[in-house]
Amino acid sequence: MNCAAHAAGSGATIDLHNTVTGEPLKLDEALANGHDTPAVKQFLSTGHNPYNEVKSCFPSGKSLFLTACSGCHGEYAEGKLGPNLGDNYWTYPINTTDEGLFATIFGGANGMMGPHNEDLTLDEILQVMAWVRHLYSGPVQDAPWFTEEQKKNYAPYKLETDAVVAKADGLCAPSNESARHEPAK
Ligand code: HEC
Repeated sequence: MNCAAHAAGSGATIDLHNTVTGEPLKLDEALANGHDTPAVKQFLSTGHNPYNEVKSCFPSGKSLFLTACSGCHGEYAEGKLGPNLGDNYWTYPINTTDEGLFATIFGGANGMMGPHNEDLTLDEILQVMAWVRHLYSGPVQDAPWFTEEQKKNYAPYKLETDAVVAKADGLCAPSNESARHEPAK
C-alpha cells in the first residue's frame, strides 16, 4: 500500500484538476463500470498509470485510441485536427504527467477536445493513456511519466517495428475488454 500524504474526495488521494479551468475534476461523473479496478485505485492513490509500458494493455489501448481519438489526432497520434501527441511539444505541459493526461482526457480541453468521461471508463482512460505514452517518440529526458526502469529500456515509437501483441493476456485482459470492442459474429 502506498503512503498517501493527503486525502481528497471521491476516494482519490491525488488532486486532479481540469486542464483548462483548473477546477477539481468531478470523478463522480465517471461511468459506473470500470471505476474501481486495481489499476484505477492505484492511479488515484499514486498519480502514476500502472498500465504504462504493460504490453498486455496495448491491444485494448490501441483499439480505444482508434475509436475515440485517432479521428482528430491521427492514427498514430501524429496530429490532424488535434495536435501531435507523440512529440515533446505540449500545449499544456501538465500532460507530461499521468495526472495531467488523465485530466485532459476525462475533462477535455478547449474547442474540439471534449470530455471523455461519458464514453470511456476510468480504467479505459488508463488503457488509452498507456497507448498514447507508447506512441511517444521524443527524447526520453522529456518523458517524466516513465519510471527509471522504463527510461532505461526506452525506444522511440516506430511504426515499422511496432509489434502489438495480438491477444491481451495479463493486466488488461479480458474483463476490461467490454463487449463493444468485440466484433459481433
Ligand atoms: C473531436 C476531435 C478530438 C477528439 C475525438 C479527441 N481530441 Fe484531443 N484534442 C483535440 C483538439 C482540437 C485539441 C487542442 C485543444 C486545446 O488546445 O485546448 C486536443 C488536445 C488534446 C491534448 C492536449 C495536447 C497538448 O499538447 O497539451 C491531449 C493530451 C489530447 N487531446 C488527447 C486526446 C485523447 C487521448 C483522445 C481520445 C480519448 C482525444 N484527445 C480525442 C481534438 C480531439
